[in-house]
Parts: sequence; structure tokens; C-alpha cells
Amino acid sequence: MAQACSIVAETLYALRSYVRPGISTREVERFAESEITGRGAIPAFKGYRGYPASICTSVNNQVVHGIPSQLRLREGDIISIDLGVFLDGFYGDGAVTLPVGKISALAEKLLRVTEESLYIGIEQAKHGNRVSDISSAIQRYVEANGFSVVRAFVGHGIGSSLHEEPQVPNFGLPGQGPRLKKGMTIAIEPMVNAGSHEVLILDDGWTAVTLDGNLSAHFEHTVVITGGDARILTKVD
Ligand code: MF3
Ligand code: CO
Repeated sequence: MAQACSIVAETLYALRSYVRPGISTREVERFAESEITGRGAIPAFKGYRGYPASICTSVNNQVVHGIPSQLRLREGDIISIDLGVFLDGFYGDGAVTLPVGKISALAEKLLRVTEESLYIGIEQAKHGNRVSDISSAIQRYVEANGFSVVRAFVGHGIGSSLHEEPQVPNFGLPGQGPRLKKGMTIAIEPMVNAGSHEVLILDDGWTAVTLDGNLSAHFEHTVVITGGDARILTKVD
């Protein structure tokens, strides 16, 4: 899993300099695909429950599961890039939301708060804690900053399948759900809306957008629970 997750991290890192105004989301997908296959791994999302692309690219008011297309990125956009990797029987999963050129102050705050909420959740991902200790920490931080957490999608266990038990919501009261134990591997992935938390699925059957049309951001890490702080597997050294 560590190897699969390193490929996720390296690919997301390489995308930071690739993403710029004028690039289409399909070009982003092709670039990511070549980074993944060039490292001997397989993009995990393609064909997953019929998903038609190698990665998810969700722009602006799109929350998650945006399908790469000819749509070209423009200065001021934000793009969530979510990708999974399969290597030697194991999965890694991670996401970042990147600015395209110069973005608004609101968009900058949304990206910062969403990424910070992920790390605040990870701080609670400790042996002996319960799953919802992660969830409630994320929700409290996001709402204290004036944003909302999406309820319709959640983080998840991960390992020899992309999605395993337990579900890891980004909302809820602390002290609930399964206890976290050393060796468990989970993907924590706050999706944060600038407006209300409600989402809508487009007619393509995949793309989730905010109901009110406001911006949304998404960051994800795969982590392993240890005796101390969780080890983040999808992080570049
Ligand atoms: N990264 C998403 C998740 O963490 C997976 C996307 S599902 C797919 O659950 F169908 F788009 F692959
Ligand atoms: Co995930």
C-alpha cells in the first residue's frame, strides 16, 4: 500500500506544475494516467462501478466525481483531482484541489480550510479513538470557518479493495463508530462547500455539484493507524 500510495502522491505532486489555464481536464487525465502507468501501476477508478475515466476532475462548483472532458481550465478556476492507484494487489487513494492561475480570496480560503481540515482529521486518526472523532473534528473546524461539509459522500477503509469498511464521514458527534486500531488503513477525504452542504448529481450519473452553485473543494489522504500519529501514505517526501 505504501508503494501504491507513493505513486498517488508523486502523480498529484507532478500535476501541480502541469495544471494551468488552457489545459483541458482530459489532458489532465492523460498526464496523470502516464505518470501512474509509467510507474508500473494501474489507475484504479477506470471501470470502477462503471466510472468512465482514469481520474476524477471536479472544477469549481463540482464537488467530486467530475468526468474529464474537453473543458479547458481558465484562470481563477479551482480543480479537484482525485486518483486511485492499484499496485500488486493493493490500493492507494488521494486528492488535492489546485488553483488555476490566480484565484479569488474566497477560493484561496476554501482550499486552505479544506486542506487544514484534512490534517485536523488525521490528528484524530489514532489507535483507540473512534471513527467519528475524525468526523467531528473535521466538521467543527470547517463550520468554525464559515463553510459546510458534504454529507452525501464519505471517506472509507482501503486496502485490497478501493472501498472497505469503515465509512469515514466528515460530520457527526465524537465517540461513535468503530474503534481505530493499529494497522488499519483508511482514506480521509473532506469535501467542503463554500455555501450549503447539499449536492446534486448531474445527468451523467457521476458528477456531483453544489446545489446552490457555490465553490467546493476536496483533499484526501490514505493513512495507516499506528501506536502514535497516523502515518500519511499519500505524501511526497
Ligand atoms: N476517490 C473516490 C473515493 O475516494 C473514488 C472515486 S469513485 C470512482 O471514494 F468511481 F470515481 F472511481
Ligand atoms: Co477515497
